[in-house]
Amino acid sequence: MAAPQKPLQPAGLDSHLRDAGLFIRQAIRTFRATGAVAPSSPALAHRLARFLDERDDPDAPLTVMEAGAGTGAVSRAIASHMRPGDTLDLVETNPEFTGHLAELLVADPELSRVADRVTVHQMPVTNMGPDRRYDVIVSGLPFANFTAEEVREIMEYYFSVLRPGGHLSFFGYLYTKEVKAVIAPRADYLRQARSSWVVEEWVNRYGIGTEPVLANLPPAWIHHLRKPAED
Ligand SMILES: C[S@@+](CC[C@H](N)C(=O)[O-])C[C@H]1O[C@@H](n2cnc3c(N)ncnc32)[C@H](O)[C@@H]1O
Repeated sequence: MAAPQKPLQPAGLDSHLRDAGLFIRQAIRTFRATGAVAPSSPALAHRLARFLDERDDPDAPLTVMEAGAGTGAVSRAIASHMRPGDTLDLVETNPEFTGHLAELLVADPELSRVADRVTVHQMPVTNMGPDRRYDVIVSGLPFANFTAEEVREIMEYYFSVLRPGGHLSFFGYLYTKEVKAVIAPRADYLRQARSSWVVEEWVNRYGIGTEPVLANLPPAWIHHLRKPAED
């Protein structure tokens, strides 16, 4: 007789506190790459995963990539929306985070459920190569900390590996440009202004919706983009 299945437990407060501790330590060490003071909230994470639910063909499995997976706050939400056959690439540069993600694939209730279809890649996302194809890309990269050239290279990469009709969802924080205008050195303010113009250019070309998420620290907005079926 098959052993009765243990019901999945949601990740506990302990594990969330551990994730937040690791995230904050890395944010202090490498703020430019980490780009946030805390992991994304569940509200933000589930909105970022929305195109795993809104599928053109409910029977076709999806290939999904999350760029900048950090401590797995969004990865968990993506895992909870995955259906049979869906696969997920988690891409992250920071080895402290990729080590943690590998542990979550064993220990986290949502990620362990789909662990045989999840791969962790320790590298910059643009090193994933031209031969991959994705239906959904969720990006947590801190564009506000990057140069305009870096943002352009990443956006071009995303759109080169997205399938026609595929979706890209990414987020930023509300009012960072306005705050930087007051407190940041002028060169840093100008760098961020230039990189935000590149983001705007892509949103103007492919955007299908923007939503604010106030239940996050700090409050955020999400942009959803779609690669045209015929480009
Ligand atoms: C704002 S954090 C987001 C973490 C997580 N997705 C969340 O929402 O809590 C950005 C993450 O992107 C990673 N990162 C920065 N540049 C990257 C790159 N070029 N390729 C892959 N990951 C990168 C950082 O190490 C960091 O973990």
